[in-house]
Amino acid sequence: MNKLKVFITGNIPDCAEELLKKKKFTVLKYSKDKPIPRRELIKNVKDADGVISLLTDKIDKEIINQMNNCKVIANYAVGFNNIDIEYARGKNIIVTNTPDVLTDATADLAITLTLACARKVIEGDKFVHKNKFTGWKPRLMLGVELKNKTFGILGAGRIGTATALRAYSFGTKIIYYSRTKNELLEKKTSAKKVSLDYLLKHSDFLSLHVPLNSATKNMLNKDRLKLLKKEAILINTARGEIVDEKALINILKNKKIFSAGFDVYENEPNINPELLKLSNVVLLPHVGSATEDTRNNMALLAAKNVIAVLSNKKPLTPV
Ligand code: NAP
Ligand code: GLV
Ligand code: GLV
Repeated sequence: MNKLKVFITGNIPDCAEELLKKKKFTVLKYSKDKPIPRRELIKNVKDADGVISLLTDKIDKEIINQMNNCKVIANYAVGFNNIDIEYARGKNIIVTNTPDVLTDATADLAITLTLACARKVIEGDKFVHKNKFTGWKPRLMLGVELKNKTFGILGAGRIGTATALRAYSFGTKIIYYSRTKNELLEKKTSAKKVSLDYLLKHSDFLSLHVPLNSATKNMLNKDRLKLLKKEAILINTARGEIVDEKALINILKNKKIFSAGFDVYENEPNINPELLKLSNVVLLPHVGSATEDTRNNMALLAAKNVIAVLSNKKPLTPV
């Protein structure tokens, strides 16, 4: 009987727990539908051999110091900015994430936000719901079209590339900024690698896909946001802190860009009240990876990472 204990900090799909139990691990799960309170987290990680964490758990030094037996923290997300990676490494704790399995779902959502902004989908829906539709009109809710426009990608990694491929199929010209050249993207879409300033100045659509870290925090600051075109549509499915949200709100308020689609926010889950007053935004509740299939696959991958490390094997997707 395997007595190793795995603590799951949130209500992820049951398949993770089932797989772990099948492998004879003792599994404990915080199954309320809200982020685990810190006290509860501290109490439960103390004797856990492995932890599956959520992106809403701040796994900092204080938490890591409570982990007396832990060998692996498997984050149920591809982003791992919620974890003090260096500190965990110093304590010989392996950190894993869930890349690839959520790439398509998140890219789909980036395109969903793009089209919703471009074609005023939410505004139109509210209009009809309020019974304001009085008939087809030549000038009703005119939006913008993707074909022949420039689609910019900030961070042409897995999700950035998948988003670019989708955008390319709509007839856009792709430009991107990353530190390294993306040969695959260039081959498939004739994408051009450009400087960050060029990306901001020339994108009709700009979709953000860099991870959040010290180099990307506030990357789109007030001055950089000023470079955006008046017609630009900005889409953020990466992390809120990459953008100076206050500056972006000002720009949207003064109609200096066309619109913006948000899936992530600077102070999640708190939404800046000024943002709620704007009509040229589409606001989603951080649902990039939120499909049944993807969430199941993320749960399985997290569980497999834990099983691998606790069986003295290599993790599948270490960060
Ligand atoms: P990824 O494959 O690592 O891609 C990130 C890209 O950003 C890389 O190509 C990297 O290229 C580039 N990059 C990193 N640092 C940079 C810098 N300082 N300047 C310019 N480019 C930089 O990650 P992914 O799987 O696509 O995920 C991206 C992010 O999406 C995650 O970290 C997460 O925060 C977010 N996400 C959100 C949701 C959601 O629910 N909304 C879902 C999934 C993921 P170089 O190294 O060549 O620069
Ligand atoms: C979601 O935001 C993720 O990083 O997986
Ligand atoms: C619109 O409905 C059209 O037929 O063009």
